[in-house]
Amino acid sequence: MTSETGFDRRLYDRFPTREPRPAGELEALKDAWCRPRGWQWVWAINNNFVGVYYLGAAMLFFVLAGSLALLMRTQLALPLNGFLPQETYNQLFTMHGTMMMFLFAVPAVEALGVLLLPQMLGARDLPFPPAVGLRVLVLSDWRPGLLLFAVLRPGPPTAAGSCIRR
Ligand code: HEM
Repeated sequence: MTSETGFDRRLYDRFPTREPRPAGELEALKDAWCRPRGWQWVWAINNNFVGVYYLGAAMLFFVLAGSLALLMRTQLALPLNGFLPQETYNQLFTMHGTMMMFLFAVPAVEALGVLLLPQMLGARDLPFPPAVGLRVLVLSDWRPGLLLFAVLRPGPPTAAGSCIRR
């Protein structure tokens, strides 16, 4: 008998399957999802490891952007401090805000999703084509970030983006 949505409840009787598992299945699964060794760490695609990479990248940028906050705080510690030139302060402000939001906050939340979602769904991994999707995402996470950090130098690029001035 089917429900009003067309779901046949007799399907439940088929699970968990009682037939013997295919030969070598357990070994193949263990091989696919075992803890990486050596160089395997670089190319790990299981969401548990990729999620930790994401989190690591986010924390790296938290520290980098935090160091900019430290400079701003030093400037703001005393009135008319003169520790940072005004333009430099504006650049640090822009870089700190941009990095915190886009290279820390967003990747950190993504990292939690990558780590937790498969566990919550009872899935073995994220439903990504692993060889393409996750690696591209992981690699693309920190490289443009460091590039952005490298743009921080005296001059117009970051100052031009400042919308709030000291
Ligand atoms: C997840 C996002 C962010 C985090 C975790 C964060 C974290 C921090 C921390 C820890 C400080 C040092 C505070 C202190 O020493 O008193 C700081 C300072 C500062 N942040 Fe952020 N920040 C974030 C986003 C932003 C954004 C979006 C902006 C502006 C566009 C911004 C502007 C500032 C400024 C101007 C300071 C220096 C002011 C001060 O130290 O009192 N921050 N931030």
